[in-house]
Amino acid sequence: MNRIKLDLDRCLAPIERNIFGGFTEHLGRCIYGGIYSPGSHLADSDGLRTDVLAALDKLRIPIIRYPGGNFASGYRWQDGVGPSEERPVREDLAWHTLDSNHFGTNEFIKFCRKLNAEPYLVVNCGDGDMREARDWVEYCNGTQETALVKLRHKHGFSAPHAVKYWGLGNEVDGPWQIGYKTPEEYARTYHEFAKVMRWVDPSIKLIASVTSGWIDRVVERTQLLVEQAANFIDYASIHWYVGNYDGNFANYMACSEIIEERIGAFEGLIRALTFQQKLTHRIHIAVDEWNVWYRARGDDARANGLEETYNLEDALVVAIQLNAFIRHARSVKMANLAQLVNAIAPIMTDNNGLLLQTIFYPFEIYSRTCGDTALDVYWEGNTFSSGEHSALRSLDVSATLNQQQKYVSVYVVNRSQTEAMETTISLDGGQFNGKVQAYVVNGTDIKAENTFAQPDQVRTVEQPLRADGHTFTHTFEPHSVTALVCAL
Ligand code: AHR
Repeated sequence: MNRIKLDLDRCLAPIERNIFGGFTEHLGRCIYGGIYSPGSHLADSDGLRTDVLAALDKLRIPIIRYPGGNFASGYRWQDGVGPSEERPVREDLAWHTLDSNHFGTNEFIKFCRKLNAEPYLVVNCGDGDMREARDWVEYCNGTQETALVKLRHKHGFSAPHAVKYWGLGNEVDGPWQIGYKTPEEYARTYHEFAKVMRWVDPSIKLIASVTSGWIDRVVERTQLLVEQAANFIDYASIHWYVGNYDGNFANYMACSEIIEERIGAFEGLIRALTFQQKLTHRIHIAVDEWNVWYRARGDDARANGLEETYNLEDALVVAIQLNAFIRHARSVKMANLAQLVNAIAPIMTDNNGLLLQTIFYPFEIYSRTCGDTALDVYWEGNTFSSGEHSALRSLDVSATLNQQQKYVSVYVVNRSQTEAMETTISLDGGQFNGKVQAYVVNGTDIKAENTFAQPDQVRTVEQPLRADGHTFTHTFEPHSVTALVCAL
């Protein structure tokens, strides 16, 4: 028998809704042919795909990162504003394609506003300079009668875009990046870019790119940045992608341990540096690229635009990552699913419509039912072993409380391929109050995929349940993700 213990007095931290953020890059068919398809019978008057907007709307994404990704490190924002027919076609050295620049800053802002999402722009710290970065802030947010603000007006936007979130570079620790930087080079670059960007708009929130490879002197990178630029860092960004590289389900389910290790190590590092530097503000963690990505990689990836097809086990792994963000709500204040459409994405389009991939469903459930406070949940029960780990709990669990609307959401991934898990769920500090809504993502087997021909192999099934008092029992299906939303 498994046990999950909730206690309304054991709150971990407020949950920042930005952990349900997204990411869109000029890459493959993410922007062109995904989000933006002027001329398509499915596009609105701004060229945005209405079916894509409707699907994204279901995910309730509060913030979207753009324009990359690797693409950002060679991007000139000036190419992407003004009359479309006058914009230059450029070669993109990140993905070795041509970009028409028909989609740019103003199109992206419109896209975000239609989704009620905050835009998060990443400036070019690769082959770009700080003049370009500060000019972009001025173009977007300026209120004085400067040439750049007048240019924005001329482009049809009299009100400032008020872009709050600005990333300084993308994956600068990777040799694959245009303009890779050593820890020393980046710390100095970051400080100087951040200084002038903040001088243009003191209200902006700045995100430092710390690690994506997890090998290039991670500790020194973080230390140098914090020592040299702490006052300009609101978020420290980390990235990862996981995958079932050896085709072993148990090993894949154990990726929870890598994620715990990385977040745990990084939050410890930030805390130590905060202490050492006697900082009076918190530096939050932004996992501003995360997902499953292992199939559409290498040369193939360029050819197929990172069009990864997801299956049920990937949906479980997406939920495992969301559980980690909730359990680390004290430090993880932003996370961006990479990406949103066509390129390693929950949504795939063709000319006539779209398909919701398996990973769409857990993300949707978590984003829609997550409370405002993370609970310090305890659980125990059946275990499994993988190559590197033993005694891993078969269930992977997180829980949140919605203080105002009075409900608790319990998120459970059953990582057993064969066993249903009977589980007692108990609550201290309050009582269950009748209604429990269960949302279950599952399919016939762990390799089940959604395709245009068979779009519903994996999806969410809702089930009304009841619970009163302090305890109830629920059986979690094998290879499933379940959210139990319990009224208090
Ligand atoms: O999301 C795909 C790519 O993964 C991004 O461009 C890059 O930042 C990361 O390596």
